[in-house]
Amino acid sequence: MSKILGIESSCDETAAAVYDSHIGILSNVLFSQIELHKCFGGVMPEIASRSHLEKIRSIVATALSNANTTLDEIDAIAVTHKPGLPGSLLVGLSFAKAIAWSKKKQLIGVNHLEGHVYSACLEHQIPFPFICLTASGGHTAIYLVESFDSYQLIGQTLDDAAGEAFDKIAKLMNFPYPGGPIIERMAAEVNFQDFMHYPRSMANSLDFSFSGLKTAVLYDLVKRDAYNLKTKTFTKDCDIILKQQVSSSLLVCISDIFKQKLAFAFKNYKNVKAVAFVGGVACNKYINKQLKEFCNQNDKLFFSPSPQYCTDNGAMIAFIGYHRARKENNHIAKFDEQSLSLDID
Ligand code: KG4
Ligand code: ZN
Repeated sequence: MSKILGIESSCDETAAAVYDSHIGILSNVLFSQIELHKCFGGVMPEIASRSHLEKIRSIVATALSNANTTLDEIDAIAVTHKPGLPGSLLVGLSFAKAIAWSKKKQLIGVNHLEGHVYSACLEHQIPFPFICLTASGGHTAIYLVESFDSYQLIGQTLDDAAGEAFDKIAKLMNFPYPGGPIIERMAAEVNFQDFMHYPRSMANSLDFSFSGLKTAVLYDLVKRDAYNLKTKTFTKDCDIILKQQVSSSLLVCISDIFKQKLAFAFKNYKNVKAVAFVGGVACNKYINKQLKEFCNQNDKLFFSPSPQYCTDNGAMIAFIGYHRARKENNHIAKFDEQSLSLDID
């Protein structure tokens, strides 16, 4: 039996968790900085790293106490070291290094995206090979996942991420950050209908492009006299129907784009048994339901993590840490000072 402490601080969430190789997740604690960044319409790197610094100690302490354990009982420490905001990554990594050194525990660097790729495996037994669609504020990509040791990137966004499209288009309409949840609430008011028919491009590719969608929405708003390009202002703030219709059309469009990509992936990777939909955008119930139905029609199993494991979290980092540090007979590698040379990437 092994216990791994996972630490995550790559963007705007300070998170820690304890994963037990027999029992599963023992604790998962998080401080979200959303309120600190709301007024800026996006994450402010300097504010993010300062906040991580203030919170990291208490978040890790709470993760240990919620798991009813202590640092002495932990077998290894896994920490996100790439990719992310440098100032944010540095806080988690420096903290992890300090406790790894003082308690002589093995330190394991985890790629944040790899954490998301396997996040649905925290709660579900997913048959390999599976397709993982990762959609968050910073990344949108498709992976072919062959085992816990092997996965490959088969498509990704060429510009903005899907979550970024929600956030930027929400900002155009004066909605606060993050845009995804409010766009979903607005769309529900008009029954998820497609009013605007925004373009769905690149159907025969596994790559995405969401910046063109943002431009299409912007120019459609300009055409409707709802956005002034010179002053960069939304001029129909009181027009709730317009906001609902734009939100709903955007949501249906992004959901359709995801379905198109999965269809293309099924064509190219015929032996795939299942799909995992992960990342912050996977919190969206409408898209989740649409993709589940689509997978059922195509004889594929569909999995998505619970919301707390869709967004950034320490549990997925601890889980990857366990799989990376696992040696023969599932024993965790012993402390080796070399592991402390880990850097951000
Ligand atoms: O995974 P995450 O917490 O952080 C990153 O690693 O980026 O994802 C945050 C993104 C934001 O862009 C947010 O708008 C989006 O996830 N998001 C949603 C929903 N909840 C969060 N997008 C669509 N619908 C939602 N319900
Ligand atoms: Zn993430």
